[in-house]
Amino acid sequence: MERTYIMIKPDGVQRNLIAPILERFLAKGYILRGLKFLTVSKSLAETHYADLSSKPFFGALVEYITSGPVVAIALEGKDVVAQGRKIIGATNPAASAPGTIRGDFCIEVGRNVIHGSDSVESAERELGLWFPEGLVDNTPVLLSQIY
Ligand code: TYD
Repeated sequence: MERTYIMIKPDGVQRNLIAPILERFLAKGYILRGLKFLTVSKSLAETHYADLSSKPFFGALVEYITSGPVVAIALEGKDVVAQGRKIIGATNPAASAPGTIRGDFCIEVGRNVIHGSDSVESAERELGLWFPEGLVDNTPVLLSQIY
């Protein structure tokens, strides 16, 4: 089953948006396979965003991601990478449709509250980076199996 890496960035945490953001993915039906609250080292931020290292905003991006704790999330479900990106909205909040996370919760591209992997390949790489210990077995158990 497909997996993706989602991260609530420091501004999302500081603005108390952890619950409303998480709610959107879980209410949709994706399965939680990893969840942790951590401060990010400079080297982890630089490795995560290595593809953007030549961009003029790279330094500010690393400073932003390391500025406070983030919530790292592993989700699983059918087409979760592409559908997750739809739920998140466009990179620049000015172009994110209302109803998406970035469309509803932010204004500035440099403070766009959330990250979501952009392909199945980057999802695998990012999950390995943020969850080197592996994911949690979270196979849904039917109520009929409990009662
Ligand atoms: P990118 O991977 O292009 O977007 P996305 O997060 O939607 O996959 O860029 C990574 C982050 O870099 C983006 O979420 C916010 C930041 N960024 C800027 O600060 N300025 C910019 O002009 C761009 C394109 C991105």
